Amino acid sequence: MYVDFITDDFPKVASIRAMLGPRHVVVPRLLGSGDTDVRDNCSVLMFDADLRKLVSIQAIKEILLKLNVIPDRLFVVPKHIYHLVAQARALGATAIVSRPREIVGELAQIEAAKRAALAGVTPAAADPARSTAAFSSMFSALRNGQPVNILDAETITTHVIHGIEKAGLATWLEDVRRHHQGTFQHCLLVTGLAVGFSSALRFGERDVKRLGMAATLHDIGKANIPLSILDKPGRLDPDEESIMRTHPVAGYEALKDNPDVTAELLDCVRHHHELLDGSGYPDGLKGQEISDLTRLLTISDIFTALIERRSYKPAMSYPDAYRILCSMEGKLEGALVRAFGKVALAL
Ligand SMILES: [Fe+2]
Ligand SMILES: [Fe+2]
Repeated sequence: MYVDFITDDFPKVASIRAMLGPRHVVVPRLLGSGDTDVRDNCSVLMFDADLRKLVSIQAIKEILLKLNVIPDRLFVVPKHIYHLVAQARALGATAIVSRPREIVGELAQIEAAKRAALAGVTPAAADPARSTAAFSSMFSALRNGQPVNILDAETITTHVIHGIEKAGLATWLEDVRRHHQGTFQHCLLVTGLAVGFSSALRFGERDVKRLGMAATLHDIGKANIPLSILDKPGRLDPDEESIMRTHPVAGYEALKDNPDVTAELLDCVRHHHELLDGSGYPDGLKGQEISDLTRLLTISDIFTALIERRSYKPAMSYPDAYRILCSMEGKLEGALVRAFGKVALAL
């Protein structure tokens, strides 16, 4: 593979070449040199720079904005220095590596996944580790008060779309349920169902991505909810429930000044728990006050919550979950619920 090695310390190039050659071709870039051309043959970005320096962080952000078509982004960071690991995640690292063995192992995994993809045998969940890393990166950025890297959400959404194209929605959903857990599993399932829903509505590629991005980001405000509440092995008490209900506004607040987040994405993040009869939260919106994109997201979100297994409730079957959606007349748009039936009842 071709590995774009981006560093602020050029002498490191020789040792990386010695480590990776002849299996991989190391193409060096000097951080801050302004070299951000996308090379056709580049497969992986590998950053080795001092993440304590603001100038390095800024230069890496600029490179990532230009090279966002390259999904694999390794960061060489000492794993025992927590704030550097968090910084790498916030920048959009898909893997953190420290030791030569880890670097070689990670590249071998990426190479194997690319070969499998070329042969058409990519696992449907499209590399669960990569989606987990992208979610962790976004959630830890939010927890640390740093800007969320929208490239992470794009990476996840693109993987979901490709995974479903390859495996079909039903198989893809099962794979996600096997390989992911907790909030990340929930967000992936909502995204998969939203992508399936928008395809059933014959949305174009761009609109499928819009809804997919909204679903990927919709619960990002849960990053600040204590794990004792998020993972509670039982129903939430009223105090815990009110803390849980802060997540749409928390997500909105964390994203509202991010120049890469559109107004419609913000709207979806804040309002995905609103219901047409005004009984939802946080703003008690009614009817036309709730956007079309949000209505689609809400249906996908409620259906997902029903089919998820929780410690206090078994997973509901797809037809049973769909029956519940149908019973929410007045709260969800009937025509959209009927359209969602093409997705839910075909699983
Ligand atoms: Fe939510
Ligand atoms: Fe949700």
